[in-house]
Amino acid sequence: MPVVINVQKFGSGSPEETELIAGRFAKQLKPSDFVALNGALGAGKTRFASGIIRFFCGDITPASPTYSIMNNYRCGGAIVNHFDFYRLKTAHDLENCGFFDSLEGKNITVAEWTDMIKIDYKKYAIGSYYVVNIKICDEKNKEKRHIEIKKII
Ligand SMILES: Nc1ncnc2c1ncn2[C@@H]1O[C@H](COP(=O)(O)OP(=O)(O)OP(=O)(O)O)[C@@H](O)[C@H]1O
Ligand SMILES: [Mg+2]
Repeated sequence: MPVVINVQKFGSGSPEETELIAGRFAKQLKPSDFVALNGALGAGKTRFASGIIRFFCGDITPASPTYSIMNNYRCGGAIVNHFDFYRLKTAHDLENCGFFDSLEGKNITVAEWTDMIKIDYKKYAIGSYYVVNIKICDEKNKEKRHIEIKKII
């Protein structure tokens, strides 16, 4: 039974701030860690992933993997695999796109829309497993987001 051992909550007021929060979070990431990103369409999952990728790779603009399913970044010593499960349906699709292979290697794996496919991710995560939920929280302020980061053991 997965247990949440650490919860951090942030308010973000802009896409740049979301990247900053993600960049600070990324400092603790190590090979084999897995970060699951969830939240509604346009919540900021790709922006958060970009903050992680930019922490390792510097000033690049990572593309959304919605159509490629996975984008791979090799920067310095780090390998970051950025997945998007939005167009996938089954655990078999996860197998086919190399998700389980990514978890097993020395990669940092980041995946958007993990709640589209209901499997016990904890079971497959070899390193630390984090779940990030991003919520659009204020109809009036279009750039306001709540970001919750949980570490799960
Ligand atoms: N505080 C914020 N944090 C992140 N993005 C924000 C914020 N405020 C506004 N935005 C805007 O919301 C959009 C978020 O897009 P992004 O592609 O990151 O979302 P997503 O959750 O990955 O969407 P999808 O479900 O399509 O994958 C961008 O256009 C971004 O500029
Ligand atoms: Mg996205």
